Amino acid sequence: MDDDGRRELGDAQRAHWQETYTAHPGMYGEQPSAPARHATEVFRAAGARDVLELGAGQGRDTLALAHEGFTVRATDFSAAALEQLRAAARAQGVEDRVTCVVHDVRPPLPLPDDSVDAVFAHMLLCMALSTPEIHAVAAEVRRVLRPGGVFVHTVRHTGDAHCGTGTAHGDETSTNTAASPFTPSLAPWSTPSPTAGSWRRSTPSRRATSPAACGA
Ligand SMILES: C[S@@+](CC[C@H](N)C(=O)[O-])C[C@H]1O[C@@H](n2cnc3c(N)ncnc32)[C@H](O)[C@@H]1O
Repeated sequence: MDDDGRRELGDAQRAHWQETYTAHPGMYGEQPSAPARHATEVFRAAGARDVLELGAGQGRDTLALAHEGFTVRATDFSAAALEQLRAAARAQGVEDRVTCVVHDVRPPLPLPDDSVDAVFAHMLLCMALSTPEIHAVAAEVRRVLRPGGVFVHTVRHTGDAHCGTGTAHGDETSTNTAASPFTPSLAPWSTPSPTAGSWRRSTPSRRATSPAACGA
């Protein structure tokens, strides 16, 4: 797929998520994901205080991290999701620890070098991102992490029921908007090493991009 095609796919994905979140407030529930609970322990052990979350959505994990005492910058390309997250942070009294920034993860992150202690991304790297785009995201994460920072993220894998289903877009990427947004799905996550320069990143050999099918 050429650059124009990828841009169109990204725009369609953003529109899809805007509509989905507007139609389904609280679609992932209020409880934190299992990877977020794992990340809480990893971040605490690393002595992290401020966290950048990529693809935060409506913020179930942002809110949990804020309740655990972390300062969280939540980013997502859906303004609708982040508006819901802002309202929830206010309602739960953690708005002082939550900042929301609408950002598409494909361009560089709007942060200086060495500016965050930890990065969390649950079900973001399995979205409609090409391999070069994923590499660019990883490089940006490394750039903004302080020395000793950690990156906890999830990926889909070839054993996932949705892998390779739906509409193929080249570069081992597919979209599957027909699947239920509430389908539970187990996504593995990697535990980074405690140095920013050497985290372990588990790259799936094939990615299933299922914008409406992630529910772990
Ligand atoms: C499956 S949802 C997960 C949401 C959240 N992490 C959670 O677990 O509740 C994927 C999220 O990634 C966001 N997203 C997808 N592609 C993106 C991109 N290129 N830039 C920023 N956000 C993106 C979507 O808007 C959506 O909120």
